[in-house]
Amino acid sequence: MPFEQKSRIDSSKLPVHIAIIMDGNGRWANERGLKRIEGHRKGGEVVDDIATYAREIGIRYLTLYAFSTENWQRDPEEVSFLMNLLADFLRDKREKILKNNIRLNVIGNTGDLPDFVRERLFSLMEESKDNSRMMLTLALSYGSRSEIINAVKSAIRDSLSGALDPEGLTEERFSGYLYTRQMPDPDILLRTGGEKRVSNFLLYQISYAELIFVEKKWPDFTPKDLEEAIIEFQNRQRRFGKAKSLV
Ligand code: IPE
Ligand code: IPE
Ligand code: MG
Repeated sequence: MPFEQKSRIDSSKLPVHIAIIMDGNGRWANERGLKRIEGHRKGGEVVDDIATYAREIGIRYLTLYAFSTENWQRDPEEVSFLMNLLADFLRDKREKILKNNIRLNVIGNTGDLPDFVRERLFSLMEESKDNSRMMLTLALSYGSRSEIINAVKSAIRDSLSGALDPEGLTEERFSGYLYTRQMPDPDILLRTGGEKRVSNFLLYQISYAELIFVEKKWPDFTPKDLEEAIIEFQNRQRRFGKAKSLV
């Protein structure tokens, strides 16, 4: 459902990259006497609404935490439902993603994903690779510590082979070893569902992100709520460690 009201967002101060921890699906369902998977089903629809809205208002990078490395430890039925939901999402939204000039991207240990998900994912990433309006990144089997360890391993390999001078490993070069190498750091890290924690998401990249925690559970989250979060972001003063003179 498009969100029609006139926006109160200052379009000259838009966040470039918004990262979202989509949490609360299971609790949303349980509150309604439904199975957890029903929360995931509804949550999948919200992904479309939010991505569509973010694209409309001009967000360039939207990164969604959809499945963590730790989430493999859930009940196998829930894991299998989520993998099927993901595969259906990639099939059903393919046309819309391509038509809307959205580039699909993934971060995480994609080797852990079942073949039927990986195939759809990589083929849509390939088909959409020249799209430029917004990069939609799904974090799948993603864990930030594992990402950092893999980055360190690659940097060590490169220095052993002579491709990298260890003294030349700057913050910028190190970022190039992370899954997020193609995107700027998030300006906003938003989490739905009321928990105030980061749960192994983008630990390195969120150094100066504005953290926004909202009580609403992901299946109830609307474009209006994202608009509120962006307004909150625009009202904050980002200092990046510098002092602001009062006179
Ligand atoms: C987030 O919702 C979705 C995934 C982690 C896949 P949860 O499934 O964590 O829902 P809650 O936090 O248990 O309510
Ligand atoms: C974080 O939510 C992962 C995703 C939203 C995909 P979790 O529900 O897995 O995190 P915890 O267990 O509350 O820390
Ligand atoms: Mg949760």
